[in-house]
Amino acid sequence: DKGTYPYYMLKEIDEQPAVMRKLVQEYFGDNDVAKIDEKMLKDMAEADHLYIVGAGTSYHAGLVGARIFEKLCGIPTSVHISSEFAYEQPLLSKKPFFIFLSQSGETADSREVLVNVNKHNWPSLTITNVDKSTLSREATYTELLYAGPEIAVASTKAYTAQIAVEAILAQALGVYMGKQAAKDFDVKHQLGLVANGMQSITDSKKKIEEIASRYLSKVPNAFYIGRGMDWSVSLEAALKLKEISYVQAEGFASGELKHGTIALIEDHTPVIAIITQDRTAGLTRSNLEETQARGASAITIVSRHLAQEDDTFILPDVDEVLTPLLSVIPAQLMAYYTSLGKGLDVDKPRNLAKSVTVQ
Ligand code: M6R
Repeated sequence: DKGTYPYYMLKEIDEQPAVMRKLVQEYFGDNDVAKIDEKMLKDMAEADHLYIVGAGTSYHAGLVGARIFEKLCGIPTSVHISSEFAYEQPLLSKKPFFIFLSQSGETADSREVLVNVNKHNWPSLTITNVDKSTLSREATYTELLYAGPEIAVASTKAYTAQIAVEAILAQALGVYMGKQAAKDFDVKHQLGLVANGMQSITDSKKKIEEIASRYLSKVPNAFYIGRGMDWSVSLEAALKLKEISYVQAEGFASGELKHGTIALIEDHTPVIAIITQDRTAGLTRSNLEETQARGASAITIVSRHLAQEDDTFILPDVDEVLTPLLSVIPAQLMAYYTSLGKGLDVDKPRNLAKSVTVQ
């Protein structure tokens, strides 16, 4: 039920703080340590490589998760688009562990990969919103997203729930493996900060709507740029804009622009920079300035401690590995308002189904 909301997507964007709190409740309860199956942690700790597999938004959540697993657990982690992995399987390590990300648990491309994984008896985990879904039943282990039903075709709360669950798992696994980086990371407390931060962003919809209508509603194309995790989020941000507002959008590694793509920048091309990582903030800013010098309209989504006077959206500070949970929210809302402003059906964009059960 949409209640008083005009579209499910807006309701689902607004539910994200509650989903973060629910995840903390479900995974930690009153404890400081997450409740995770020890047998699974053992299988993961024994792996020499984690393979994350997903499609669309779930693939994008995997890109963020891989960085968290590598940082907290020190296990090499790669991320794969399921429709590619199924037919162009890379050379695998000796002891692989597979993590399937799927909101629905029914995506055919991902199922195809799991069938093959099971043929080899490799251990696997499905992280999904739907208990007893096919991917959940067929994997060795399941962890749930607890996001509640996601109705809008454009995935929002499943993306942030996926990243949060990856962070909870990576922290638990890192601690299990005795890694200091994981012991130092208070994921439970941080997710509380994230929930409050999300709330403050969703409370500032007016400004986001204005920026969307001023910069995005009349243009044929736009760019999201960033480095590292910010680049991963820029891919998801661009997908949101494409799928519901039909703006041709590209998420781009900001340092790579000058190697060709900057040729596309014209007067008033929106370039939205995501800046949340200390090490790369200055570099992304100079890349953004290079586009401005060629006429781009610059918009910024920046963590508070990195903010400068003219920045557009300022995000509350949280641990660096969790900034995607906040930086994606203005992007989700800009896509929503651009679509709404164009009079499109936000929840049911053309040519798309919620769950893609064909290959
Ligand atoms: O149910 P899944 O997470 O496996 O779905 C994967 C993609 O089809 C899905 O994320 C799709 O990209 C969304 N429409 C994006 O908003």
